[in-house]
Order: sequence, then structure tokens, then C-alpha cells
Amino acid sequence: MSSSPIARIHVRGIQHNLDLARACSPHSQLLAMVKGNAYGHDMLGLASRLQRVDAFGVARVDEGLQLRAQGVKQPIIVLHGFNDSQELEACRQAVLTPTVHSQHQLDLLSDQHSRDLPVWLKLDTGMHRLGFSPLAFQAIVDSGEFNVTCILSHLANAENLAHPQNSLQLELFAALTKDLGIPRSLANSGAILGWPESHYDWIRPGIMLYGSSPANTKLADLRPAMTLTAPVLSVRAVAAGETIGYGGIWRAPENTRIAVLGIGYADGYPREVPVQMPVWINGQRRPIVGRVSMDTLMVDVGDLPIVPNERAEMWGQALPVDEVAALVGSIGYTLMSGLTARVQRELVDE
Ligand SMILES: Cc1ncc(COP(=O)(O)O)c(C=O)c1O
Repeated sequence: MSSSPIARIHVRGIQHNLDLARACSPHSQLLAMVKGNAYGHDMLGLASRLQRVDAFGVARVDEGLQLRAQGVKQPIIVLHGFNDSQELEACRQAVLTPTVHSQHQLDLLSDQHSRDLPVWLKLDTGMHRLGFSPLAFQAIVDSGEFNVTCILSHLANAENLAHPQNSLQLELFAALTKDLGIPRSLANSGAILGWPESHYDWIRPGIMLYGSSPANTKLADLRPAMTLTAPVLSVRAVAAGETIGYGGIWRAPENTRIAVLGIGYADGYPREVPVQMPVWINGQRRPIVGRVSMDTLMVDVGDLPIVPNERAEMWGQALPVDEVAALVGSIGYTLMSGLTARVQRELVDE
């Protein structure tokens, strides 16, 4: 598979980041977010290798079923919950814990005689995405009709310490849940790192496990969890004045050499990259030139002694994913979870 891009997944790095999340919040249980193929890090390969995980978090029932089929024994929380009676039944059969966030789901629970099913109840404290309003939430809790084993909410600006909405959401959550005697969960990575009062009974780290900062800034103690490399397919000389690739948008200012790498936007590498977007090749940063194509992109390697089949790092240990993401106006979440299936994942014990 040497002509494929490879994402090396650093299992020990992820374990280190997980232990760091735990150390930030020693009295909470830890739900590791592995939705979106573990943000691109091979959910099924990773789940059995991680230690000290109290539960896994996925977005969809289907992801939870895949984890169970893989032999995962821990609780699995399904953030979207079920959306029809088949999914509700699947949750029951596979012992998945759905999040319940809508009246539609409460009706399904009642209609299917499933009020005893353990569920996490989602309260909307200001994100205004999924969850019950404070009034509806209180009515559900007061009714005592459902088997609520945890209450969760989600912060809309946790990574931005200066944002005034954080304290509003924190106060509302505390006020509405304080005397219920039901476990609570509020903190994603940004909140684990920045808002100790949000930790409660369950923390829900995602992006920090994967070594990327929720705010696209460098966090000293996190370790990179993915190194994405692509093979050199060809090295060619270009003369001053010649153009490279589709649209000829880059013209060589002088005689140089171009390495063609086997990675493109069909692998999830962004098509829109700025001038001077670096890759790490042969111990140096060298710029991508011309348009990124579906399966290839070109790098101006000048005099570097590059040979076919050596590999360039697109992001990882030498070139932080957050830096690459910032250069394309994106975030580490998008780049890593956007890698497509044809990027080979290789889990390594480092
Ligand atoms: C409800 C919920 N909890 C936790 C997380 C994890 O967030 P992060 O990756 O920022 O840690 C997410 C991510 O989207 C989420 O939607």
C-alpha cells in the first residue's frame, strides 16, 4: 500500500491525552468521544486498545452497533439517540444508552413500552441545537416517567474563556439540576481544560484525545495522535516559466524540481490551500504549488534529494494539524475527521 496516504495513529499518544483529561478531572468518570470514526482515528481499532475509559460516546445508533459488534463492553452513549422504533429496539438489544432530546423520542419510548430503558436526558442551556428547554426538562424530570440515568448539556463556547455565554450556561445547568440526585455531564474538551466547575460526574473529551486543541492553539501537554503521510510518486524538473497542474495557477519563477505526492482532495486533504502551504519532506518545510487535484498534489522541492516512494508528512509530529488547519481557515476536527476511507489507518504503539 505504499502508493496510498497513510494515517499513523499514535495509540500511546491518545492514551496520554486521555490520562491528561482524567487528571484534569480526577473525580469524574470519562466518556471517550469516538464518533466520526474517532475523529478519523479508526474507532474500531482504537476502542479495544484504550485503557481507563468508563464509556464511549458516539453520535449514531449505527456507530454504537459497530462498537458492540467489535466486542466493546463499556457503556456506549448515543448522542443523537434513536430516531424511530427500529433504532429504539436496536438500542435495547445492544444495550446502548440513547440520549433523549425531543418529544418525538419520548413518544417512541411511551409507545414502545420502553419507559424503563436507561437514557441520558439532554437539557438545552443555550446551544440551541438538541435538547429540551428548561421548562420541558423540568416537566419530564418531575413526571418521573422515564429512567434518566444522567443529565447532559453542551456548552456553545467552552473553548473561548472570555465568552459571556459560558457563565450563563454553567449557572443555568447548575440551577436546574442541583437537587435532582441524578448524575450530570457538561464538559467537552474546552470545558475540561477551561471550566473546572463544568466537570460534574462525567466528562466527555473528544478533540483533546486526538492531540488537537479545541481553540486551534497549541496546548503544551497534548501529544499529536495522527501523522498523515503521502508517498512521492514522481520527481521532475521544471524550467523557469513553466506552469504546474490544473489551471496553471503556479508558474515556476526559476528552474526547480517538483515532487508529485499521492494524496488529494478525494482523500480528504483540503483543495483550497494558501500559497506557501507547507508539507514536511526530507527534514524541511516545502510549499505546495499549483492546485490540489483529486489524487495528487505537487510540492516545490528545489534541490532537496527526494526520491520516489519516500514519504512527506502532511500533518503530524513535525507539522501540527492545528497549524495546517489554521492556514486553510479550518479546525483540526474537520481535517482529521474528513479523511476518507481510502487513507490507510495504521495504529502504532507509540
Ligand atoms: C454533545 C457533545 N459532547 C462532547 C463532544 C466532544 O467535544 P470536543 O471534541 O470539543 O471535546 C461533542 C463534540 O461534538 C458533543 O457534540
